[in-house]
Amino acid sequence: MPTDTAPGPLRVLVFGASLRGDSTNARLAALVAQLVADAGATADLTSLGDFEMPLYNGDVDAAQGPPKGALDLRDRIERCDGFVIASPEYNASVPGVLKNAIDWVSRVQPQPLKDKNAMLVSASPSLSGGNRGLWALRVPLEHLGTRVYPDMFSLANAYQGFADGGRLADPRLQQRLSDTVGSFLSLVESSVRYASLQRRWYEFLADCTDAPITQRAQD
Ligand code: FNR
Repeated sequence: MPTDTAPGPLRVLVFGASLRGDSTNARLAALVAQLVADAGATADLTSLGDFEMPLYNGDVDAAQGPPKGALDLRDRIERCDGFVIASPEYNASVPGVLKNAIDWVSRVQPQPLKDKNAMLVSASPSLSGGNRGLWALRVPLEHLGTRVYPDMFSLANAYQGFADGGRLADPRLQQRLSDTVGSFLSLVESSVRYASLQRRWYEFLADCTDAPITQRAQD
């Protein structure tokens, strides 16, 4: 059963997975964070570069556990109701830095990616927009129990894809991204808030009966 949510706006972590200073994926992450905020949710915009981690090493893990960067990323994931990754595609797959971060975070117990809703977006100068990398990224995330939103967004020709002010140069693509973010937020809201409503319903019933709350909630 999903955990209850804090009251107030939905909290969405958005991070770019490129360490490059002029990253198009960082720009796409910033645009998604703006759309999240426009929709009334709270966006926590960051970059994978804010979470320093060495290459995964089982000996280091056994001796010291996950590094501070992985624990910080775990904290940010735990605090959100859903997250968005804007990731480049490297050699038709997931960039090593992102896979390395997922591997470190997956070593933290309880594993924070389980049961979180996630949406994937990419930007690339190529015609595919980095979409193959997102399909590859689904594999470790779904393996870890993340609910990866079915619809993804990939920006092709990304070096020419942004207008001044950070919006997409093509208004149809801007609308498509906005619609996708809106649909994702609806899913996050129903997934997070429905659990809350269900629990309150059971608690109300439990007020009138002797049945334990947990037993009724599992019926
Ligand atoms: C790339 N790039 C790339 N692009 C793509 O569409 N498909 C690919 O398979 C690859 N492979 C690839 C491998 C490596 C090692 C590098 C460094 C780059 C190009 C990549 O999309 C481009 O550098 C983007 O600008 C990276 O995203 P950021 O840094 O702009 O966010």
